[in-house]
Amino acid sequence: RGVPVLHGRADGEGAEGAGVQAQPQRPGQGLQESRPLSQAEVQKQSIQEVRRSLPVFPYREDLLLAIQQHQILVIEGETGSGKTTQIPQFLMESGYNDGGMKIGCTQPRRVAAMSVAARVAQEVGVKLGNEVGYSIRFEDCTSERTVLKYMTDGMLLREFLTEPDLASYSVVIIDEAHERTLHTDILFGLIKDIARFRPDLKVLVASATLDTERFSCFFDDAPVFRIPGRRFPVDIFYTKAPEADYLEACVVSVLQIHVTQPPGDCLVFLTGQEEIETCCELLQERCRRLGSKISELLVLPIYANLPSDMQAKIFSPTPPGSRKVVVATNIAETSLTIDGIIYVIDPGFCKQKSYNARTGMESLIVTPCSRASANQRAGRAGRVAAGKCFRLYTAWAFKHEMEESTVPEIQRTNLGNVVLLLKSLGINDLIHFDFMDPPPHETLVLALEQLYALGALNHLGELTKLGRRMAELPVDPMLSKMILASEQYKCSEEVLTIAAMLSVNNSIFYRPKDKVVHADNARQNFVVPGGDHMVLLNVYTQFWVIFIWHQLGYSTQWCYENFIQFRSMKRARDVREQLEGLMDRIEVEVCSSGGDIVPIRKAVTAGYFYHTARLSKGGFKTVKHQQTVYVHPNSSLFEEQPRWLIYHELVFTTKEFMRQVWHQY
Ligand code: CDP
Ligand code: MG
Repeated sequence: RGVPVLHGRADGEGAEGAGVQAQPQRPGQGLQESRPLSQAEVQKQSIQEVRRSLPVFPYREDLLLAIQQHQILVIEGETGSGKTTQIPQFLMESGYNDGGMKIGCTQPRRVAAMSVAARVAQEVGVKLGNEVGYSIRFEDCTSERTVLKYMTDGMLLREFLTEPDLASYSVVIIDEAHERTLHTDILFGLIKDIARFRPDLKVLVASATLDTERFSCFFDDAPVFRIPGRRFPVDIFYTKAPEADYLEACVVSVLQIHVTQPPGDCLVFLTGQEEIETCCELLQERCRRLGSKISELLVLPIYANLPSDMQAKIFSPTPPGSRKVVVATNIAETSLTIDGIIYVIDPGFCKQKSYNARTGMESLIVTPCSRASANQRAGRAGRVAAGKCFRLYTAWAFKHEMEESTVPEIQRTNLGNVVLLLKSLGINDLIHFDFMDPPPHETLVLALEQLYALGALNHLGELTKLGRRMAELPVDPMLSKMILASEQYKCSEEVLTIAAMLSVNNSIFYRPKDKVVHADNARQNFVVPGGDHMVLLNVYTQFWVIFIWHQLGYSTQWCYENFIQFRSMKRARDVREQLEGLMDRIEVEVCSSGGDIVPIRKAVTAGYFYHTARLSKGGFKTVKHQQTVYVHPNSSLFEEQPRWLIYHELVFTTKEFMRQVWHQY
């Protein structure tokens, strides 16, 4: 097709490599230079060397020229070519941040936004949060001085609320565009629109080597700038028969590689935190048993909720004589580049959100990944040398059972949040919004219906005053309705805490496999009447009383003894503080119900009445869709089986489980 493609020309091509010619002396190499370099200078020099070695480096000038000549540019390059870390620096170096203008770069994942910002701050030589910062939901690490801002795509979307034309940005980079997250897809439509009346705004759409022609078409045939990658061949191996237990198969494969293959690090793709932890434990245990019979194997996990100091470990070089194995979610597919990987183990699964517009049920299910994903995964093995990819599925399954590419998130998720946001941006006609791939009609209708039921939209589909206030809160519509209802019932202190605890994503209670009984007993001690929301409130209250009255050491000890995750509690406090700050902005007075549970129940119900279920034979039936669901075994109401209840969310694991349930009398 007629997509214009710009082929960059490497700077100094031809001249470089003519080794006989005298090279200009670089500082630090000359004979006159007798002063030994300080450690900081050595580090800085090696950072510069790494920067120069990246595939994007020779194309710096061509790229800058193309950006100057075109308002919208699609940039395609292999993972690891330096798109995310280098291009924003090129822009800074050539003055795109002059006059206090900002360069924004979006990432679909929180972990990537944080780690990339940290890396770039280091390369630029500034403290993270000063000139280079990041912003993710409930965590803003930027300042007045920030000119290069990495952020999640969802955060940039929210910035449209305060700055509808993104006036403070000179360049917006929509990175990892191929991921096609819901927020990235909405950004496409909005940014294409504002680019028309902001000719000075530069838009860069960066993607791995996938789908770039579609991006070009969507952006009115914007040219594609291709960064030629270096890629070494990767041998692909399939299993002869399907694996019954892919986790076990991973563990066995890692050990086999470790014992039989030449040096080189290993990358394993699993679907989530729990699987990754189990895999790491199994690997460590078997290595311990093998003892000195094998050389050292460093086992490192990486997933979204991992503390950032642990995340940083995956980037540290492997000591000689040992092997590193990184066990990752598909975050390592394209968003993060780990150097030194030679072996990839791919079980062929990922956790995917799916949405049933008929029942309104959202679920996270482990499903076979797409062929495009599998190929990206394999590609991770060939970045530094020829590599090997072990696919734990058959060649037949690859051909016949996997989808060609992943369905964009917009077509398999609840749109309540996004519809509310678009409505508050004044976009009323959602049917004709410029979607790259439109969402299913029923999903849009269901979102509108739900927002109407919550009172965020009136019968004409227009935003109400309540809806406008709901949109100010960076949480799902039902949760924001619950928070706003707490104003009326005078229990916002408690409801804010509950909302914060619900937002930290089921990671409050720690339940290690070898201490399940102890952990469950500890949890039982927090049970109070009402249901899981009240349990969460109770945990938070007890924890902060202890935290405030005793020193830090005691509260971490308390967490340890009660199987509570200290980190999650701190995060819940951060979320709570942010929400409380927003209360101020939308003029909600924060007050307490003084121990009375009834107002809290009313507020929760005002938000979650859609999620009502009634006891029926063998389980519960949802009121709205007559769907059979069950109380999650971890719930405080698991034994009790009340006649009516309200749930926070439905998850599908082995059955349709309701998580965080509230007793209705
Ligand atoms: O965005 P793209 O995949 O094209 O590459 P990148 O993320 O800019 O990565 C370029 C290089 O930066 C990688 O090869 C890594 O060596 C390095 N990097 C790092 O060391 N630490 C990070 N947190 C991110 C990147
Ligand atoms: Mg990148």
